[in-house]
Amino acid sequence: MWEQRNPVFQAEIDPSKKTIVVLGSGWASTSFLKAIDTDHYNVVVVSPRNYFLFTPLLPSCTVGTIDVRSLIEPVRFITRHKSREVRVYEAECTDIDTDTKTITITDNSDVKGENSVSTLAYDYLVIGVGAQNQTFGIKGVEQYGCFLKEVWDAQKIRSKLMDCIETAAFPGQSPEEIDRLLHMVVVGGGPTGVEYAAELHDFLVDDLSSWYPELAGKIKITLVEALLNLLPAFSKQLIEYTESTFKEQNITIHTKTMVKEVREKDIVVQKPDGTPDTIPYGLLVWATGNTTRPLIKNLIARLPETQTIRRGLEVDDWLRLKGTEEIFALGDATATKYAPTAQVAAQQGKYLARLFHQLAMQELLQNEVGLASTDAEKVAKERKLRKVKDIKPFKYSHQGSLCYIGSDKAIADLPFGQGNVSSGGVATYAFWRSAYISNLFSSRNRALVITDWLKKTVLGRDISRE
Ligand code: FAD
Ligand code: NAI
Repeated sequence: MWEQRNPVFQAEIDPSKKTIVVLGSGWASTSFLKAIDTDHYNVVVVSPRNYFLFTPLLPSCTVGTIDVRSLIEPVRFITRHKSREVRVYEAECTDIDTDTKTITITDNSDVKGENSVSTLAYDYLVIGVGAQNQTFGIKGVEQYGCFLKEVWDAQKIRSKLMDCIETAAFPGQSPEEIDRLLHMVVVGGGPTGVEYAAELHDFLVDDLSSWYPELAGKIKITLVEALLNLLPAFSKQLIEYTESTFKEQNITIHTKTMVKEVREKDIVVQKPDGTPDTIPYGLLVWATGNTTRPLIKNLIARLPETQTIRRGLEVDDWLRLKGTEEIFALGDATATKYAPTAQVAAQQGKYLARLFHQLAMQELLQNEVGLASTDAEKVAKERKLRKVKDIKPFKYSHQGSLCYIGSDKAIADLPFGQGNVSSGGVATYAFWRSAYISNLFSSRNRALVITDWLKKTVLGRDISRE
C-alpha cells in the first residue's frame, strides 16, 4: 500500500477518522485545504478544475501581460504536502443529499471513462463552489458576450480581440464595419470591468499602435454601467480619479445606462433619459457580477425553512450552513454581510480549518477526561476542554481594496485606524504590484509573474491569435 501513495511518507486514509469532503478549488477551499490538519481527518477534494486560480491578476491575461499558467497551481501541489493522503477528484458535485450525507459527483470534462458518475459519503461537507456569472436573464448575453472569471474566459477574450482586429484589416471592409469590429465594449463598471478596460487600454497604447498603425487610432473602448458611477465600493475621491483617468485614456464611459439586450453585432441600451439606443461592438465583455450556481439553488430549495435568501447559502457566525449540523459553506457561494471577494473567502477558509482543529481537540479531550486516572488530571483536562469548546465566531479583517486603472496607475482604499486612506497613481501601482506578488500562491507563481512583467517590458506583448 505504501508504494501506491505519492508522496510515500503520507499516512493512509484512516476509516476510524471523520471524512471532510471539500467542494471547489478556489480561494475559499484552497485556503481551507492549506490549513486543515489531516492528522485528525480524512480529506477528499472535488472540483471540476484541478487547480487554484489567482483571480486578481486574471484581467492581465486577456491581453497577454501575464500568461495564465503563471497564475495557476495544481490542487495536488497542496495535497501532496499534507501529512495524510488526500483524495482529489476532478469532477463537479451535481447533488447534495443532506439526509443520507452523500454527494453525487459527475465528470463533465471532455474525456470520460466508462464511469463518469459516482457517490461519496461525508461526515462533514465544506462548500466552496463560488458563484457563476450574472446575466440577469438578458437575452443574448450567454450567446454573444465574453465573461471574465476563468482561465478559458481570458483566453477567449484574447483570441476574439485579435480576431476582431485582423478581420478589420481584411481587404474591402467598409468604414462602418471597421468601426464596429474595433469597438470593444465592456458592460459592468465594477472592478472586473474597470480592470479589463484598463488592461485593454495599455495593450492598445503599448503594442497595438505599433503593430497596426493604420487601425490603432480607430480602436475604441466603451464601458457601460447601469449605476451613477463606476466602482461603487470605492471612495468618492477614487471614483472621480478613475473616471478622469479613463477620460484621459479615451475610454468612453456611459453611466446610468442599462443594457437590455445583446445581439450579434450590437447591444440595445436604455439611456439615462429612458430612451433606447444601440451600440455596435466587435468584442463584448460582460462583467455584471455574480449569481448563485444551480447546485446551491437546489440545496436552498431542499432547506426551505432555514435557507431563505436566494443570493446564496445562509451560514451562522461559525460558517455552519443554517438548518444542518455537518455542512459548512464559505466564499462567494454564501450570502453574508461581506462582499464576494478573495480576501473574505481566503480568511473564511483559514478560519474553518482552525474550527475543525478545535472540533478534533474537543473529541480527543472528551475521551481523555473519561480516561483520567486522578481527580486532578480530570479537572485539568476539563479545563482544557472548556477552552477548546469556546470556538470564536468568524471575524473578517479588511486589508483594503485595490484596483488597476491603466497607464501604470492603480487606486487603493486602505483601512487606517478607525478610518480609511485613499490613494491613486503610479506609486499606488507599485504597491498594487508588490501586494499581489506577495499574495501569489507559491514562489513558482511569483517567479513566473515577475518574469512575465519583465518580458512584457523588454519584448512587448505577443499579438498572435491562439
Ligand atoms: P472561486 O474562487 O470562484 O472557486 C470556486 C471553485 O469551485 C472553483 O474551483 C470551481 O471550479 C469549483 N466549483 C464550481 N462548481 C462546482 C461544483 N458543482 N462542484 C465542485 N466544485 C465546483 N477579489 C479580491 O478580493 N481581490 C481582487 O483583486 C479580485 N480580483 C478579481 C478579478 C476577477 C477577474 C474576478 C473574476 C474576481 C476577482 N475577485 C477579487 C473576486 C474573487 O476572485 C472571488 O471572490 C473569489 O474567487 C471567491 O472565492 P471562492 O472560493 O468562493 O470561489
Ligand atoms: P460587481 O457586482 O462589482 O459590478 C457589476 C456592475 O455591473 C455593477 O456596478 C452593476 O451596476 C453593473 N451592471 C449590472 N447589470 C448591468 C446592465 N444590464 N447594464 C450595465 N451595467 C450593469 O461585479 P464584478 O466587477 O465582477 O466584481 C465581483 C466581485 O469581485 C466584487 O465583490 C468585487 O469587489 C470583486 N472583485 C474585486 C476586484 C479587486 O478588488 N480589484 C477585481 C474584480 C472583482
